[in-house]
Amino acid sequence: MSTLSNSAVPAVDVPAVDIRSVGRIFPGRKGASVTALDNVSLTVAPGEFVSLIGPSGCGKSTLLRLIADLDVPTSGNIRVFGKPARQARIDQDYGIAFQQAGLLPWRTVTGNIELPLELHGVDRPGRRARAAELIELVGLTEFAGSYPDQLSGGMQQRVAIARSLAERPSLLLMDEPFGALDEMTRERMQNELVRICAETAAAVVFVTHSIPEAVFLSNRVVVMSPRPGRIRRVVPVGLGAMRDRGEDLREDAGFFRSLSTVRDLLHGDDGPAIGAPRGVETR
Ligand SMILES: Nc1ncnc2c1ncn2[C@@H]1O[C@H](COP(=O)(O)OP(=O)(O)OP(=O)(O)O)[C@@H](O)[C@H]1O
Ligand SMILES: [Mg+2]
Repeated sequence: MSTLSNSAVPAVDVPAVDIRSVGRIFPGRKGASVTALDNVSLTVAPGEFVSLIGPSGCGKSTLLRLIADLDVPTSGNIRVFGKPARQARIDQDYGIAFQQAGLLPWRTVTGNIELPLELHGVDRPGRRARAAELIELVGLTEFAGSYPDQLSGGMQQRVAIARSLAERPSLLLMDEPFGALDEMTRERMQNELVRICAETAAAVVFVTHSIPEAVFLSNRVVVMSPRPGRIRRVVPVGLGAMRDRGEDLREDAGFFRSLSTVRDLLHGDDGPAIGAPRGVETR
């Protein structure tokens, strides 16, 4: 099984992600530019679960794309497990599940999940076994041989999540991975993600619009503000270790306290609170 083991064991004290004074300005038409991120600094420890939340357009996806080296900062720098973001991408130190499922249409569910394992030279029986395990985890056993265009949006998203977990990465970068799921499936996937994180000690940077989802999953919730995208506040959640997080936590007093803190910050400088900022779910 050594080929399936974690190839990116972080050195002690090296952050999983280290973002220093990062800015990203997109040049616009006729000289009008958009400052998507301004002076953002954040450190994510190995095994830590950090959520990014904030109104639509505040730069959450941009920040995740910078960590994944799918884009480069205009200023500042980012290190992943002590390496430049580019090197971490080349070494495939993390799993990614983004807003768009990004599946290969000519590959089946199994084929898509096996892809990262194939790229890393895992043998066929090893790939099959791991894919089957993950397909069961995301509840798609009956669809293992189906192609992406035969699946609903939420099912495609579950395949993408399974694929991101295939190599048991030390870091997961997830951009609204549960956005397309129905509420029941969403809560089940949240519970599974908590279990997976407890088992694998993976660090996670997780973008969501849902305050309860951010609070339930995270060690810290990063509340962002838009134009220019900045970190408004980092809220430590303090609901205990991942392995102790169960369904009953959703009824816990500490859970509701953290919900209010995050909600208040999101209303923040947008004047008197009359409902949540656009694009943020308060349920
Ligand atoms: N490639 C790009 N070119 C120009 N502008 C961009 C580009 N990508 C993002 N932006 C701009 O940067 C800002 C932040 O976008 P981003 O996608 O990071 O927001 P977000 O917080 O993920 O929003 P949402 O919650 O809607 O997904 C937006 O104003 C957006 O228009
Ligand atoms: Mg986004």
